[in-house]
Amino acid sequence: MDAFRTIIEPFRIHSVEPIRMSTREERAANLERAGYNLFDLHAEDVIIDLLTDSGTGAMSRDQWAAIQHGDESYAGSPSWFRFRDAVHQLFPFGHIIPTHQGRAAERILFSVIGGPGKTVPSNAHFDTTRANVEATGAMAVDLTPSHPPGELLPFKGDMDVAALERLIGERGAENIPVVMMTVTNNSMGGQPVSLANLIAVRAVCDRYGLPLFLDACRFAENAWFIKQREPGHADRSIPDIVREMAALADGMTMSAKKDGLANIGGWLAMHDDDLAERCRTSLILTEGFPTYGGLAGRDLEAIAQGLAEVVDEDYLRYRIRSTEYLGEAVFGAGVPVVRPIGGHAIYLDAKGLLPHIPPLEYPGQALACALYVEGGIRGCEIGSVMFGRHPDGTESPGPMELVRLAIPRRTYTQSHIDYVIEVVGRVAARAADLRGYRIVSEPLALRHFTARFEPLS
Ligand code: F0G
Repeated sequence: MDAFRTIIEPFRIHSVEPIRMSTREERAANLERAGYNLFDLHAEDVIIDLLTDSGTGAMSRDQWAAIQHGDESYAGSPSWFRFRDAVHQLFPFGHIIPTHQGRAAERILFSVIGGPGKTVPSNAHFDTTRANVEATGAMAVDLTPSHPPGELLPFKGDMDVAALERLIGERGAENIPVVMMTVTNNSMGGQPVSLANLIAVRAVCDRYGLPLFLDACRFAENAWFIKQREPGHADRSIPDIVREMAALADGMTMSAKKDGLANIGGWLAMHDDDLAERCRTSLILTEGFPTYGGLAGRDLEAIAQGLAEVVDEDYLRYRIRSTEYLGEAVFGAGVPVVRPIGGHAIYLDAKGLLPHIPPLEYPGQALACALYVEGGIRGCEIGSVMFGRHPDGTESPGPMELVRLAIPRRTYTQSHIDYVIEVVGRVAARAADLRGYRIVSEPLALRHFTARFEPLS
């Protein structure tokens, strides 16, 4: 298939969900009602929903069939054993602990190993990971080197290994309970991490006796990038690359809502018996018995089947090339985007497109709102709305002004994506007319979910 220019979806559609079309006037009214916050829209009023790739994918015929095999026994269900074995095939950790989603695994792990005075480095923490580290009083530190948005490096998700060594020197190895590696690196544009970088980080961890954990949400997409881009790995199978990533780590957190191809679920895994014991105790308090975590038996079945499908090369070729197709088309139309194109999303550079809107008039929000009014597309601002407010109530510009268009797995066809390209192009053509926003009400933390805005005239 690599010889063809046209990417085809490696599936046929078996069951459909209607999309309700709307007019521009209806969308403008919906947006005003939502206080110009796209999280407050009714999903039925969205035409193409690119808010997240998490839990929004389409399950396969075989996953729906597996759901019928769900066994809801409280303890020792056959669905648990199927789930455990499917995870173990790819991630052969001694202990596998199911959870209802990724952040539950994070909460359990950091409530056990975090705490005041501790520091948790990562290539880049996802926002829930950071929040769960900080909720224990520990400090979360990101160590991705800063690259210009357009610099075409193959593994822009890598950790800065020298910065890790410096951090260990400053904080003391005894105050670092774990080093995290997020694959792919969501906060930095869905960019992959190389095996060479994982090996280098592992070597530093070994030197200081530190455990290394993967935040493995998009492990299959990362493995595909390694196969495509890292010399020496082109002939390896995806499961083989995934097992090498796992072998370099002491444990993992996982959201099965991404590369589990499921609508809910996650897990925590590790080799350390004592740590596993303490995590299971915490699991029982809020998630449930260790053979189901927060999940129904049917969910465990859907994840087990999803893990077999997500490492399929026809699927991954389509997945990564279709994201690239969208990104390169938008870039070709003159819209600045983070490049190379990441695995699960494209990131529009609102600062580059809307230089006339100052950061604290929220160019990313302006672009995201314009995409909705123009064509009913819902993306997500990742800029000064998300990162600009500090715990003391002050505000400063975020490091970037991006709009993420995340692609749900196996959900939209190429003509949906062509429509997105057309809508982005139309908005870009009248970029100079777009205006900024001001915030009229906001909560103390995580304001992007509930803040209300007003357009500036
Ligand atoms: N880690 C990463 C890298 C993530 O991207 C996410 C979720 C999580 C952990 C938490 O997992 O949602 O199952 O609790 N990311 C979604 C997103 C929400 O839109 O990027 P969860």
